[in-house]
Amino acid sequence: MNLNDAIQECWSKIDEGQVATYIPALAKVDPYQLGVYLFDVTNDKKAEAGASQVRFAIESVSKVITLLYAIERLGLSAVEEQVGTRQTGFPFDTILNMEITKETHPLNAFVNSGAILISSLIEEQDGLSPFDQILEFSRKICNDPDITLNEEIYQSELRTGDMNRSLAYYLKAKEVLTNDVTLSLDTYFKQCSMMVTCQSLANLGAVLANDGIAPWNNERIISSEAATYTKSVMMTTGLYNESGTYSVKIGVPTKSGVGGGLVSAAPNHYGIGIFSPALDHAGNSVAGLALLELISKKLKLDIF
Ligand code: DON
Repeated sequence: MNLNDAIQECWSKIDEGQVATYIPALAKVDPYQLGVYLFDVTNDKKAEAGASQVRFAIESVSKVITLLYAIERLGLSAVEEQVGTRQTGFPFDTILNMEITKETHPLNAFVNSGAILISSLIEEQDGLSPFDQILEFSRKICNDPDITLNEEIYQSELRTGDMNRSLAYYLKAKEVLTNDVTLSLDTYFKQCSMMVTCQSLANLGAVLANDGIAPWNNERIISSEAATYTKSVMMTTGLYNESGTYSVKIGVPTKSGVGGGLVSAAPNHYGIGIFSPALDHAGNSVAGLALLELISKKLKLDIF
């Protein structure tokens, strides 16, 4: 398929969305951008088009990386004791996720409460702070040594992060989050502020698609178990309360971020990274999802 034509076809969808405004540094991003990078793990072929090398804030896509890192450090059962794998009918940052359902632990690792709890599980090691470890692991699993923290985004997250603070203190009050709350939140705000490209996310998707093995050097980065668990959770909750809609429309495990990024893993086939910053009401990239749907149809990637 011609990726440039695909981008043209989806371009007008940008007008149906809006860049995230609740984080001021994201509100300044030019909405008129759409990029894609495809990594075919069956033959090591890559293809890219549009804004595929533009750096943007990873935001919630970082939840995939931190989840994988926590599973590698602590084991899957320790992580499963902390967060469930259930869907939410509510937005990603609402406290209702736990209050209404009377859950003690967050529904899943991708709602903000679950992601903050997962970040809190990473302890300092060998003099490296939790965030330093996440950054190092991100560079490895994305095969991108140029991933860095964007100070402006981080400051913006800090300034407007009261809902996340309330979620973290709620978890602390319920004695679910037992490590240092301030440090846990700082780790979370920093991980959201890492700058990536479509290529970095396609590489991450390729490791997941390839059962945990980096297709660029055949090194196992994560266990097969971690890859399978994470793809399942991406499929059921990766696009928040719209996950069911896109399970039917696209059928490929995908995680979004309010920076406009999408990572997809088509098992045994493709890692896909997409970027387009205009979002729908749920916080998912509008043109990005339209492009992913088109690619999934053309390349027959729907796992169902
Ligand atoms: O915590 C937040 O609200 C943001 N730093 C990240 C949220 C996000 O990306 C949700 N994704 N669609």
